[in-house]
Amino acid sequence: MKQELSRAFSDQINKEYFSAFLYLAMSNYFANNGLKGAANWTYVQYQEELAHAQNLVHYLHTRSESVTYAAIADPSGAWSSPLEVFEAVLEHEQLITESIGNLATLAMQTGDHAAYIFLQWYVTEQVEEEGNVNDLLDKLKLANGNTNALLMIDSQLATRAFTAPVVPGVGANA
Ligand code: FEO
Repeated sequence: MKQELSRAFSDQINKEYFSAFLYLAMSNYFANNGLKGAANWTYVQYQEELAHAQNLVHYLHTRSESVTYAAIADPSGAWSSPLEVFEAVLEHEQLITESIGNLATLAMQTGDHAAYIFLQWYVTEQVEEEGNVNDLLDKLKLANGNTNALLMIDSQLATRAFTAPVVPGVGANA
């Protein structure tokens, strides 16, 4: 793998770990504000982000590349409502989508077909991530601050369970 691409993979890994930390902070916000379902949903997303990072790490190891880790920034936001939290989620995921897209473009430009194919899972995953958040934002906007509607949404979010993502090209021990 070209050094430029390897470095860009490391940058993406650090972004995925930051994403995990961000969702953990959001889960904390919801747990402290009586919305246990949203706390669960964001905690499951934290677990997903860890898996995203770890599968990228494992892929670099498979390619005999090493990872350069960076300090994770403080993820605590000054959120004042569930709507604000999920708006911040959408904004963040849009940045991650752009970053994954740039990484895939770099893989193509450096002639790394294997890395380009590997990254397709992440490209598709981002469509799902943004879609999920957009659905949630639509519901929150319909609720328009109504407590009963908010609690109904919260009870739906409580049902989300973590399933480890299966990323083609990454071994079972990732
Ligand atoms: Fe790993 Fe939410 O993107």
